[in-house]
Amino acid sequence: MLRPKLGVNVDHVATVREARGTSYPDPIHAAALAESAGADQITVHLREDRRHIQERDVRLLRETVETRLNLEMGATEEMLEIALELEPDMVTVVPERRDEQTTEGGLDVVGQLDALDGYLDRLRQSGAHLSLFIDPDREQIEASAELGVELVELHTGDYCEAAGPFDNRTHSPDDDRREELERLRTGAERAADAGLHVAAGHGLNINNIRPVAAIPEFEEFNIGHSIVSRSVLVGFEEAVEEMIDALMEGREHGFDNL
Ligand code: PXP
Repeated sequence: MLRPKLGVNVDHVATVREARGTSYPDPIHAAALAESAGADQITVHLREDRRHIQERDVRLLRETVETRLNLEMGATEEMLEIALELEPDMVTVVPERRDEQTTEGGLDVVGQLDALDGYLDRLRQSGAHLSLFIDPDREQIEASAELGVELVELHTGDYCEAAGPFDNRTHSPDDDRREELERLRTGAERAADAGLHVAAGHGLNINNIRPVAAIPEFEEFNIGHSIVSRSVLVGFEEAVEEMIDALMEGREHGFDNL
């Protein structure tokens, strides 16, 4: 059985560095450890306010990442120029608000179809695979397919924030979470039916990942905060390995057994 791919988001290694203005810990170092622990991709979000990842990080990662570099960015002129210059392997367009704590919802593709169409046309010149970070809703999925991107990443935040325990043996979520899980499953199926590759991300951790990993259409997961948090306690490689194991456990368990 093919294991789902893991993209490790190293933004919050940079958050710790920026908290003190030091040169450490270095997200470049973390990315190398993630790759040696089995990560399939390194993901960074270069925010307009540069609160964690800096341009220097993206430049160095472009030179050092041996798997794939996925640059998350808002659809701005500044970011377009950076993507065209640095040519990441993948660009994921995300919504961005200055005052948000983190990305709070998916991109409104339906509401900005024409603007995104023109923007993506220019972004394509970077040669990067293009992905849109969207909520798992039918209209957003259909609009994304219309724009001709290769991949959509479905926002898992609502699922992660739904309250309720998991059954430790079956990994089954309780009813509130199950509703959000079904929404993700329907979204993933719909996107795959539309010919899109499908990823998932946001808020995933070692306890809530398995039911989502059980959805076979999800080929890739981008996970950051929980891995970086766990790495403080157990080390970066161990934290990545644990997540890879959990992804595989979820996939092997299968959705029908939840
Ligand atoms: N995927 C996307 C598109 C994101 O914007 C983020 C957060 O930057 C993540 C994945 C990772 O989310 P988390 O840090 O909650 O794992």
